Amino acid sequence: MKNLLQPISNKLYGKVAIVTGGASGIGEVTARHFINHGARAVVIADVQDEKGQHVAASLGSQRCPYIHCDITDENHVKSLVESTVSMYGQLDIMFSNAGIATPGDQTIIDMDMSGSDKLFAINARGVAALSDFEARSAWAREVGEFTAGCRRDPLEQRVAGDGGDAVVVRVAGS
Ligand SMILES: NC(=O)c1ccc[n+]([C@@H]2O[C@H](COP(=O)([O-])OP(=O)(O)OC[C@H]3O[C@@H](n4cnc5c(N)ncnc54)[C@H](O)[C@@H]3O)[C@@H](O)[C@H]2O)c1
Repeated sequence: MKNLLQPISNKLYGKVAIVTGGASGIGEVTARHFINHGARAVVIADVQDEKGQHVAASLGSQRCPYIHCDITDENHVKSLVESTVSMYGQLDIMFSNAGIATPGDQTIIDMDMSGSDKLFAINARGVAALSDFEARSAWAREVGEFTAGCRRDPLEQRVAGDGGDAVVVRVAGS
């Protein structure tokens, strides 16, 4: 059987990543890819503790720890970013993958608004919180480069332009 812990390339050599929703599906496969491409560490963040711990253990907990993180809770997100930087001294990649899907059979006349609230809390607000804390952390470590309509200090400004330009965080060396 192929040894998954043996890097197949060094494209991500030395990089530290967080993969949210890394306990299953696309996130789990991505975490494995990142390790196989030589990442120094991949932090699995999810709410499915048992599955997340299993994925982490299968990749080696030293390089791949599991952290419980509900991305709808800003304290969890803050702690995820801070503990990653504290463990490894860097954070290069945020694979913001945690999310849920809408029930496929929902129509406009029978909208489940509480379901929609949950969807937006995870897929929109949660993802925004991850970007925000990652950008703050990169800014504090002076490793981020903020582009696409941002003024230089991302903490003082929000989004330039009436329509709301995207904020792109490019990490030094990437
Ligand atoms: N698979 C597809 O065809 C498809 C299509 C479009 C979009 N997506 C999106 O891609 C992402 C991954 O999809 P997947 O098929 O691997 O789904 P999945 O359900 O297997 O994985 C999603 C992961 O996110 C985690 N998660 C859910 N809510 C969370 C929260 N609040 N905090 C932290 N983790 C949370 C889940 O526990 C799960 O491990 C999802 O955001 C999904 O909506 C998938």
